Amino acid sequence: MPWHRPHLLDIESLSAAEILTVLDTARAFKAVGERAIKKVPALRGRTVVNLFIEPSTRTRTSFELSEQRLSADIINFTAEASSLKKGESLKDTARNLEALNIDFIIIRHSAAGAAHFLSRVLNAHVINAGDGAHEHPTQALLDAFTIRERKGNIAGLKVTILGDILFSRVARSNIWALTKLGAQVTLCGPATLVPRTFEAMGCRVTYNVDEAIRDADIIHLLRIQHERQRKTVFPSIGEYTQLFGLNQARLAKTKPDALIMHPGPVNRGVEIDSDIADSKRSLILEQVTNGIAVRMAVLFLVNGGKGPQEVAAG
Ligand code: CP
Repeated sequence: MPWHRPHLLDIESLSAAEILTVLDTARAFKAVGERAIKKVPALRGRTVVNLFIEPSTRTRTSFELSEQRLSADIINFTAEASSLKKGESLKDTARNLEALNIDFIIIRHSAAGAAHFLSRVLNAHVINAGDGAHEHPTQALLDAFTIRERKGNIAGLKVTILGDILFSRVARSNIWALTKLGAQVTLCGPATLVPRTFEAMGCRVTYNVDEAIRDADIIHLLRIQHERQRKTVFPSIGEYTQLFGLNQARLAKTKPDALIMHPGPVNRGVEIDSDIADSKRSLILEQVTNGIAVRMAVLFLVNGGKGPQEVAAG
């Protein structure tokens, strides 16, 4: 299916066919990344601004590398050294960048809706790199890509997302992507962080961790997002680890081929035992690697690319 969107703002508004177009295109770009010369000219002459107004390690470096591999010109905006510090608004900042004839803005911001807002006030392509607790669409796409690569298919898989769901943009984007692609999604964590209102998104909610992971094909762990919580939502980190952390005893009661995912950053010894994070069943670093191909695919499609055959030809 062709892609007609000038922006990538969320997963909620995408169809299953559009998600699969990204995943198929990413597969072609992954092959490009395995060649001796990893660069293609798809974005030659185009300028991308990485506008990260919230910290990031994986997403920011992965977008930058993707842009380099597509031969784009790149500006890495440093919020701390910008006139945002003097009170300039996001809208004025973005419009001044656009006045420099840039073509893409990759935006990460602590406010939900920041990417949608920019898409309404700019002519440039806007890609959401995480907006508050709302969505992180490229994370969900790289997670879906990783699951499909390892398990062959997503439809019919049982995926358990365990942790702080309420404050997680990764959880929301993953729920949309996985349910659209036919997975059965279970959510688990402290009741204060996993409200039953999430059932309206088409997933199951349980507070029994052993039951949540027993039959799972994928166990996707999330960290506690302290930076978004304005009040205490559970007694202590130690109690969270005891009740919901993935340790060897819990892992022993899961399917032997169940795989472990985590979007990072990982809090070792809190939501996951350190040795499980580094084990053969962990896909954590594969997720990071696949982020490059997926973000190349998103940039390519948003720029007007039609599908994976053009990538292979390029
Ligand atoms: N997964 C993720 O968004 O990580 P960063 O915050 O390091 O980009």
